[in-house]
Amino acid sequence: MKILSVVGTRPNFMKVAPVCAAIEKHNRHYAGSPQTIEHILVHTGQHYDQLMSDSFFNDLNLPKPDINLGVGSGTHIEQLAEIMKKFAKVLLQVIPDVVIVVGDVNSTLACALAASKIFHDSKNVKPSIAHVEAGLRSFDQTMPEETNRVLTDHLSDYLFVTERSGILNLKKEGIPDEKVYFVGNTMIDTLLIFKDIANRSTILSNLGIASQVSKTTGTEETFKDCLITPYALLTLHRPSNVDNKPLFLNIIEALAEISIYLPVIFPAHPRTVNKINEFGINNYFNFLTGLQTCGNGAQISEKRINLIDPLSYIDFLCLMSNAKIVLTDSGGIQEETTCLGIPCVTVRNNTERPVTIEEGTNILAGTDKNKIIKCFHDQLRKIAATKSPDYWDGRAAERIIDVLAAKVYAQREKEGLC
Ligand code: UD1
Repeated sequence: MKILSVVGTRPNFMKVAPVCAAIEKHNRHYAGSPQTIEHILVHTGQHYDQLMSDSFFNDLNLPKPDINLGVGSGTHIEQLAEIMKKFAKVLLQVIPDVVIVVGDVNSTLACALAASKIFHDSKNVKPSIAHVEAGLRSFDQTMPEETNRVLTDHLSDYLFVTERSGILNLKKEGIPDEKVYFVGNTMIDTLLIFKDIANRSTILSNLGIASQVSKTTGTEETFKDCLITPYALLTLHRPSNVDNKPLFLNIIEALAEISIYLPVIFPAHPRTVNKINEFGINNYFNFLTGLQTCGNGAQISEKRINLIDPLSYIDFLCLMSNAKIVLTDSGGIQEETTCLGIPCVTVRNNTERPVTIEEGTNILAGTDKNKIIKCFHDQLRKIAATKSPDYWDGRAAERIIDVLAAKVYAQREKEGLC
C-alpha cells in the first residue's frame, strides 16, 4: 500500500517526522509481507529557506523529500493554486492509497483539496485523505488557518484528533463519529524524543545566557547544570498581530516593559522582521542576527527585546525548555510549553487549543498592552502544571499508522488487490 505525506511549512516538519518513523517501524514488523507501506514524502516548498525548512530536516532526521513542488511565497490564492496544480500531477504519477496532511497551513488545504478532486480528472486515482490535528477550532474566521482547518476536515476520510475539544467540534459540524480518531499529538511525539537531546544545544552559551561551565557525562556534553540567566522567550508572527502598525506597536511596548523584569529573547519569523523594517520600529530591539555564523558569546541586552534569527528545532527546544516564561502567538508552542511545564502567555484573543488552558500552562492575554503585562506577572507567580493532556505520550503517530494500515489493508483485501 502507498501512503503519501505532505509537508510545507516549519510547523509541519515536527508533525510528520514521527509519522515517517512509525511507518518505518511498521515496515520492520511486517517485512516481506503485503502489509508493508511504501511511503512518499512531498514538500510543497511553501517554506523554503535554510532556517525555515532545511535545518529541520537535519535536526529531525526527516528523510529527504521524494518530491519538492518548490512553490515558495506568494499570495494565499497563488500559493493554493500553485500547490494544487503541481500536487495533482504528483497524485497522477504516484497513485497513493492515502494522502496524509497535517495542521492548518495553506499546503494542508491545497493538497487535501487536490486529493479530493483528482478523481474527476482521472477515475483510477481516488486516495483517502487523512488529516492529522483535526477538529481544532478558534471560531475566528479572520484567521487563514481557521478556513484551512474547517475545509480540510470536511474533505477528510480519517480525522486524527489531538484533544477532546476536537471530537466535540467535529460532532457539532456533522462529521460522522466513525471517521474520528482521538490519537494524541504527533508534535508532542517529536518533543518527547528530542527533549533530552536539546540539552546538548550550545544556543544558551552562544547567546551569553549560560555560563560556559559545561559538564561532561560519559561522551556527552550537557549544559543542564550550568548557571542560566533567567529570560523570557518570545515568538510573534500572526498576520493579525504584526501586519497592523498600531496593534503591533502596542504589543511591542508591552514586551519592552516586560524586558525590564526579564530579558526577552525573540527568534523572529521573516514576516515579522519585514514588518519591523517596514514600520521603522527597529529601536525597540537589540539585533543579534547572524549568530549562527558569528560564533559564541553574543551578549543579550538585559533591558531590551533581543532579536535573533529563526532557530533550528533543537536550539529552539533548548531555549523553550530553559525559559522562565514563553510569550507567543503560535499554536504549536502553546502545546509544547504545556508538555514542558513552562508558563505560556498567548498574545491572541482566542485559542483553538483549549486543553492548554484547561489542563496546561497557557493563559490568553489578548493584544492589549496592560493585559499582556498583567498576564506575564500572573503567570510568573503561578506554579506550572506538570501533567500532559491525554494521549500526549509519544505514541500518536504509531496509533495513526495502525489505523491507516488496518483500514487500507482491509479495503484492498475486499477489492482483491492483496
Ligand atoms: C505559515 C502558516 C502559519 C504558520 C507559519 C509558521 C499559512 C496560511 N500560514 O505562515 O499558519 O504558523 O507558516 O511559520 O499557511 N518567508 C521566508 N522564508 C521562508 C518562508 C517564508 O522568508 O522559508 C517569508 C516570506 O517573506 C513570506 C512570509 O515569510 O512572504 C510569509 O510566509 P508564508 O508561508 O506565506 O506564511 P507564514 O506567515 O510563514
